[in-house]
Amino acid sequence: MRASKMIDRHLTPHQQALLPNVTITRCRLLAALCLLLCLSSATLATQTPTPVVAATNATTNATKYPHAAVYEAHANQYLDWASTRMQGIWARRRSSFLNLTTKGRGYNAINQAPIKQEIENDYRHLVYALAMNLSTIPVMQLKDPVLRRRVRRLAKLQLYGLPDKDYEEAKDLLHTMQTFITSRMVCSLGDCQQTVAMVPAIVNHAMRTKSLADLEYFWRVWRSVLADRNRAKSAFISYVRMLRLAASYNGHITPSRTWYLYYDTDNFQRELENVVWEIMPLYQELHAYLLKCVRSTYGEKLYADEGAIPAHVLEQIVRQAWSPRPVFRTPFPTHQLPTVKQRLEEILVTPVKIIKKSAEFFESIGLNHMSDSFYERFSRRIGDEEIGSDCHAEVFYFPPEAALRYCPKLDYKKLMQMHGNMAELQYNLYRGRLPFGVDSEPCPGFAAAIGEAAVIASGTPRHLNRLHLLFNHSLSEEQSMNRLFRMGIHTILAIPQYFINDKFLVDVMDGHIGAQELNCAYWNLQNKYAGIVPPQRRNENTFDPDFKFYRGLNPEKPNTEKLLSEILGYQFYRAFCLASEQYRPGDPEYPLHNCDFHGSTKAGDLMRQMMEAGATRHWRDLMEIATGERKLSGKGVMEYYAPLYTWLKEQNKKNGVEAGWETETRCSKDYNISS
Ligand SMILES: *[C@@H]1O[C@H](CO)[C@@H](O)[C@H](O)[C@H]1NC(C)=O
Ligand SMILES: *[C@@H]1O[C@H](CO)[C@@H](O)[C@H](O)[C@H]1NC(C)=O
Ligand SMILES: *[C@@H]1O[C@H](CO)[C@@H](O)[C@H](O)[C@H]1NC(C)=O
Ligand SMILES: *[C@@H]1O[C@H](CO)[C@@H](O)[C@H](O)[C@H]1NC(C)=O
Ligand SMILES: *[C@@H]1O[C@H](CO)[C@@H](O)[C@H](O)[C@H]1NC(C)=O
Repeated sequence: MRASKMIDRHLTPHQQALLPNVTITRCRLLAALCLLLCLSSATLATQTPTPVVAATNATTNATKYPHAAVYEAHANQYLDWASTRMQGIWARRRSSFLNLTTKGRGYNAINQAPIKQEIENDYRHLVYALAMNLSTIPVMQLKDPVLRRRVRRLAKLQLYGLPDKDYEEAKDLLHTMQTFITSRMVCSLGDCQQTVAMVPAIVNHAMRTKSLADLEYFWRVWRSVLADRNRAKSAFISYVRMLRLAASYNGHITPSRTWYLYYDTDNFQRELENVVWEIMPLYQELHAYLLKCVRSTYGEKLYADEGAIPAHVLEQIVRQAWSPRPVFRTPFPTHQLPTVKQRLEEILVTPVKIIKKSAEFFESIGLNHMSDSFYERFSRRIGDEEIGSDCHAEVFYFPPEAALRYCPKLDYKKLMQMHGNMAELQYNLYRGRLPFGVDSEPCPGFAAAIGEAAVIASGTPRHLNRLHLLFNHSLSEEQSMNRLFRMGIHTILAIPQYFINDKFLVDVMDGHIGAQELNCAYWNLQNKYAGIVPPQRRNENTFDPDFKFYRGLNPEKPNTEKLLSEILGYQFYRAFCLASEQYRPGDPEYPLHNCDFHGSTKAGDLMRQMMEAGATRHWRDLMEIATGERKLSGKGVMEYYAPLYTWLKEQNKKNGVEAGWETETRCSKDYNISS
């Protein structure tokens, strides 16, 4: 069905006056233009939480909002219409979940996929139609602040704002780029009868191998397959074109405004960058220490003269941080961390018990009690046929219920992850009470940040001891350092990578990086923010971002969101720990890294207040509730890893290693690789 026909028939008097005889596409463009040109105060207002124009003491409401009643009536009419349809979509999601998880109905993930797709399409068409309706409303003419936020959030869209044909194209491009990660396209070592995929085969190999040549082979060949007929670069460029198009429908001249839509902040990237610089001293010490480890493992074969770490080796370091037999040594090899696997199997016995323990954690701080009906109807095991090498729990939202499909594996990692899933379930229960449009997190990554704080808490010795998985509530100093080191690799090395991937995309989108200089621009960022170089010289004939870059192009899990949830996650964790008084700055008995804020209703109150508010307020207002701060900061990360930072500085000094690296990208346009 052509959407433009629909709108012609269903124009409201207000729309007719504003937008005579236009098709759906032009209608949105015009609306956006009009907002931009005629009502510049309204677009300004989308950046500012409170009215700014002419809000002097002399102004009365009547002159400030002369048409409020009319606009509010229209807005409410559109929103009521959409809320009713949304109820239908939730009912189908619920039914689909119950079918999928009820034995004997004959539904499985495969035959349910088209139904899921159909529901998703209906949802997309609904928000598209709603955005069109709402884009005719000047937001600043609305008096009611919650209504204003609902309209503001729903009137603009990201990829969902594209017309069907363009949206399908964007989806196909995304799909193509996701296959770079999971399809078998690289010849196995010395054997082209067999091909392997980046995930899981190549990354698993990188975790275990001690051969630098193997690492280099896979690194290079995966990229040369992607460079064949420019397939990676051209898919990426076409995808960026779609992102730009989506921004144009919002009237955004700078396309990243649409990419950062829900952050509601001018130059959001600057704020992210500031955090990266804030933790840079710690990053550089860790980087210098790791480079020394790598050199002593690989010796002269490793070409790392500039003090930077080659990309393939960095990948290996990250991969094997949790491996039981790491290629690189931990700070205190004779003080291994106690293994909890056996105790976990003895004590927690079933995955349901893991869920119950996680639920208990949130109950202990005063959040919702998970009802019996949750366990009976809405908490279901993932079917055996779907469990691959790794499976991930999935949380569902169809208010008033929240639902879970969980992975039936019993291990430490799943235990920690379940605390994150449970945070999301709690969030879903609270936000489900809010009106449609503000029944969500205030910005992407906010919910995951709260989840991250719970995940960090659940992995502390204090918490593992509480669960009777460890005999002691603290580790020895050496073990504790090993633990911080492993976690640090995971977190501190990841932050600049998320940032680089996000910045690269945004800079291409906004035209700061041209199509002729993509690859070297990428290596420039890697060198500047992470001290990483390619294993060999590169030019513009390849397109070298790693597989996580492609993963982050999916608007469902962008690198921006990952970055925010890591940073804000540690900020929240710190705030909850301060509230619980389990963290007492300066007191070595109560370090930040061994706090689980279990049982602290003070911490729970902060968490609940943020969850209950959904998106009714700006994310800065909400983060302020917990942290007292309105800006992202590296403080949580720096205080958590403070003992590691001190130790690394001492070690590097002892080893005569200097932190930092030279500016060297090992990439130039004219470089001929075959020479
Ligand atoms: C408005 O406020 C200013 C100071 O903020 C004051 O000088 C002025 O008299 C006020 N005007 C009226 C009409 O109240
Ligand atoms: C203006 O409207 C707001 C919100 O409806 C109300 O709280 C306030 O008292 C009104 N002010 C005047 C001067 O009418
Ligand atoms: C909003 O738009 C849709 C489709 O364009 C239309 O069917 C619907 O009636 C509109 N809602 C209202 C309340 O006008
Ligand atoms: C769930 O199953 C019932 C009975 O088989 C069916 O009528 C219904 O359409 C299914 N719902 C979904 C969303 O697939
Ligand atoms: C627990 O660990 C601390 C710090 O390593 C140690 O002093 C204490 O003796 C341990 N307690 C037990 C019961 O092992």
